[in-house]
Amino acid sequence: MSPTLFAALLLAPLFLFFLAERSRRKSVSRKIPQLPSLPGLPFIGNLHELGSLRHQSLSRLSKKHGPLMLLHLGSIPTLVVSSSSYAQEFMKTHDNIFASRPSFRVSRALSYNHIDVAFSPYGDCWRQMRKICMTHLLSAKMVHSIASVRREEVAGLLQRVSDRNGTVVCLTEMLNELVNNVLCRVVLGSPLGDQRRKLVSNLVQRNSTINTILFMEDFFPRLGWLDRIFGSENKIQSHFGAWDVLFDEFIEDHLTNKSTNYPSAERDMFAAGIGTSFLVLDWSMSELIRNPRVMKKLQDEVRSIPAIESTQDCEIAGYRIPKKTRVIINAWSIGRDEQYWEAPEEFNPERFVGSSLDFKGREFRFIPFGAGRRMCPGITFATAVVELTLANLLHRFDWRLPSGISIEDMVMEESPGLVAPRKQKLELVPILVNKAT
Ligand code: HEM
Repeated sequence: MSPTLFAALLLAPLFLFFLAERSRRKSVSRKIPQLPSLPGLPFIGNLHELGSLRHQSLSRLSKKHGPLMLLHLGSIPTLVVSSSSYAQEFMKTHDNIFASRPSFRVSRALSYNHIDVAFSPYGDCWRQMRKICMTHLLSAKMVHSIASVRREEVAGLLQRVSDRNGTVVCLTEMLNELVNNVLCRVVLGSPLGDQRRKLVSNLVQRNSTINTILFMEDFFPRLGWLDRIFGSENKIQSHFGAWDVLFDEFIEDHLTNKSTNYPSAERDMFAAGIGTSFLVLDWSMSELIRNPRVMKKLQDEVRSIPAIESTQDCEIAGYRIPKKTRVIINAWSIGRDEQYWEAPEEFNPERFVGSSLDFKGREFRFIPFGAGRRMCPGITFATAVVELTLANLLHRFDWRLPSGISIEDMVMEESPGLVAPRKQKLELVPILVNKAT
């Protein structure tokens, strides 16, 4: 086929699609006339306004256009909520309507077509999977019962750090290993060997970065076929194919001592549990090393951070919001709102000392675990691991930057991805001050 004919065949449906989309978008706008809508470009709408760090782009846009703004991401109207009071409307007052999740290409693949907890639409399947996770893994009772696993793994970490006393250690890798070990022991019943642990870490990390690929299906549902032509579909197949091989091995290994297997739930636990908890530790240690006064204070004491979708029409703050509207609660931006926070960009954990501020979804200016029916079920699990690890690392060691590196040299930027990891790995020198007690 001649290149000109090929280009014509490719462009003709695109042109027809563009015309259809224009009229569809006009009719959507007529349906929801009141919502403050951002002007966008033909065809792509506001997609060009999203940089690689989407939460930061949304934050910047909301500062200019207000706390409730309707974007057109390709052909999909998406409502961005960037104030605590509006977040409360969506996640508490109308929580029963906004408890579903939109379907994205990556979430579909990650969740075996939405039969998991994290990405399934609101309904019986989600209810059942969430119950299984809560009962078998994430309840307060279960988290309490695995205290010995946490203690052993944290003791192992402290030992590995002590063995490298006075030398440079890559804390990022060590913290990743710790969280990985705890999750594997709890979900699979045993820690992984080195090779498999590295594979799981890479796959979890890739889960986050694969979210940065722009899939046509997500923004122009009728052009999903282009994902195969552009190669993004192959990337999905190969990434999730690797997960499947690994899970087949896990299931084989554990068939004898497990009565049930829920690969979709297990994959959720790895995807949602490892990246998040480990990043909280990694960012905390990075901020602490840059703030020696706060580090010292904490040491003295211990020594003594997704979209939802509506299932029916509703009205919020005078605006009519139709069924199946995608909503992004911009928690990152809300957590930095000067209306609620003094010097929000400053790392100042002392602001929480003596405050009764709740982080479990009751106070909407601070929702690191989300809120409402789709709130993170891993909150008790995560806080137990994070607190124990951080307290022990600070109790046992003083921390220095490697020689020749100053605080100013530290890159405190995020990399693109679902969970915003630090761009730079954290390398520090531990100085043992308290032997094991
Ligand atoms: C510090 C660590 C963690 C943070 C900051 C975090 C944060 C979040 C957030 C913001 C959500 C979305 C909530 C919403 O839509 O309102 C979520 C959902 C979820 N998280 Fe976590 N999470 C963490 C650790 C964990 C752990 C350790 C697990 C499991 C082992 C876990 C499992 C899940 C699951 C299954 C969901 C989906 C819940 C649903 O849709 O019903 N998370 N998490």
